[in-house]
Amino acid sequence: MAKYREASINYDYWWPIAHINDFKNLENKSLRVGNKELLIIKISHTNFSVHADYCPHKRVRLSKYGKIDANNITCHYHDWCFDKETGDCNSIGTMIGETKNFNLETYPSKVYANFIWVYLSDRKDIEAPKLPQIKPFDLHDSYYQLPMQGRVNAHYSFITENATDLYHAKLHERQQPWLNPKLVEIDSNEDSVKAKYEVETPSSLGMLFSGDETKYVKVEYNYPYIHIYEEKLRFYLFVTYIPDGPKSTKVISTFYFKHFLNSKFLSKLLEPILIPILDHFSFRRVFKEDLEAVEEEQRAYDLNGTDLSRELNKVTHQVRQLLVNKTQGREILLVEPSNLRPGEVF
Ligand code: FES
Ligand SMILES: [Fe+2]
Repeated sequence: MAKYREASINYDYWWPIAHINDFKNLENKSLRVGNKELLIIKISHTNFSVHADYCPHKRVRLSKYGKIDANNITCHYHDWCFDKETGDCNSIGTMIGETKNFNLETYPSKVYANFIWVYLSDRKDIEAPKLPQIKPFDLHDSYYQLPMQGRVNAHYSFITENATDLYHAKLHERQQPWLNPKLVEIDSNEDSVKAKYEVETPSSLGMLFSGDETKYVKVEYNYPYIHIYEEKLRFYLFVTYIPDGPKSTKVISTFYFKHFLNSKFLSKLLEPILIPILDHFSFRRVFKEDLEAVEEEQRAYDLNGTDLSRELNKVTHQVRQLLVNKTQGREILLVEPSNLRPGEVF
């Protein structure tokens, strides 16, 4: 068994779990991060609460049995009622008693870069780390943003390797993100793997990026986040792979694409046309190609019961090492007990 194919999850990080724009109204959604089932409740456009998705009474899922109103979530099994923001138990049906032992488990959450972030760590001896900095977001009015999410039926090590190994340009030949990649620098430490690739830009994209034919693309894997960007930040992909099973991964990302017209007004005017075109004809196709390829890798792994792949790219070896180091000693990823997941995010 290859350890990196069994890697679990490290909860001692802020995990981006959903895009805020996926919550149209004041709705709630459920999803799994590692082995934890979560319920996200929208309180206002910029405020969300994230709870464990089970009623503390009999541990039935609140995504299935909970009814949410203006202030509370009430479990329709025995009518226990909780504050939808803090998780505090307000009443235990018609029974009289101390409610404080029955609070709903609630996790720290934040909104940044249009993602909802959650901190699931149960360690009291460490401080929560900082959120990663997503540079184009802080300059966001010069960028187009394409949020994207999806699911891959493979362990997250496969898709993490795929994203950090730019040598797979051939796979996306029809979409032509770049040509002839070469690794020119690699630098790793206990928290990250940083790589710099030289690539050639196809002429169609060259027109948008302007300037030289040769570009440098940097890839930074700061567990659990991946940043992939052109040196001058003309494009920037922020992506996180969330394992939610031994062979199941959620992908959550935003692609930033710098305005290529000088006029802000014209750039904004172009947005409703450009974004759907880019999304449909490029980004989603690239993603589908990656997804199919890594599911094929998972298939080969399952067939042989071990990893028989051969690898030359140093980045991939370092990525595997980092994944193992960050998740060593953590509980194994569980197979989900049931495929009934009401209101799941994606
Ligand atoms: S299981 Fe929720 S109130 Fe009893
Ligand atoms: Fe790819």
